[in-house]
Amino acid sequence: MKPTLRRSLYLLSALLIVTGLLVFQSGASADDLPTWPTKVPAGRIDFRKSVRPLLIINCLECHNSEDAKDNGNLSLETRKLALTTGDRAPVIVPGRPDESLLISVLKLEGIHQEAMPPTPDKIWGVRMEILRRWITEGANWPESIRLVHPREITEW
Ligand code: HEC
Repeated sequence: MKPTLRRSLYLLSALLIVTGLLVFQSGASADDLPTWPTKVPAGRIDFRKSVRPLLIINCLECHNSEDAKDNGNLSLETRKLALTTGDRAPVIVPGRPDESLLISVLKLEGIHQEAMPPTPDKIWGVRMEILRRWITEGANWPESIRLVHPREITEW
């Protein structure tokens, strides 16, 4: 093979790889799920960073204000709603994870009708620890942050 031809072939394959990478990257849009944390963050739990994605992905599909009536009347859209709605409200007792229904329903066996979320993706390990620590630290949740149904998320 002529050296010039070989060089053109190299160039062409490099070009194809770069284009491939660009296409691949542009395919990664905002609705790709964030990955789960592998350890509990140090320091105070940051609601926006650690709790918000967890609740949106696992709970907001059912516990939004519109669908709450079919789901134990619990809306987890804002802190105020999370602390006041639900058939057995309050489901969060700031400072006391062990008295918070929001924690205990996640621990029930999957076949229990109250086990939340009612999907194979149970909350345990690091995510459970994040939720518990967040409640222990007072369940802080800035008023400006309203959670929405996962289909409405454009940015994590
Ligand atoms: C697929 C829908 C669905 C998802 C997702 C879901 N829930 Fe529920 N949730 C329900 C239904 C239905 C009930 C009512 C069950 C009952 O009353 O027996 C309920 C009830 C509850 C209750 C009890 C409310 C009360 O006051 O009685 C809590 C707490 C709760 N869910 C927390 C959560 C949390 C936290 C998540 C996310 C980790 C979650 N749920 C995800 C459907 C869902």
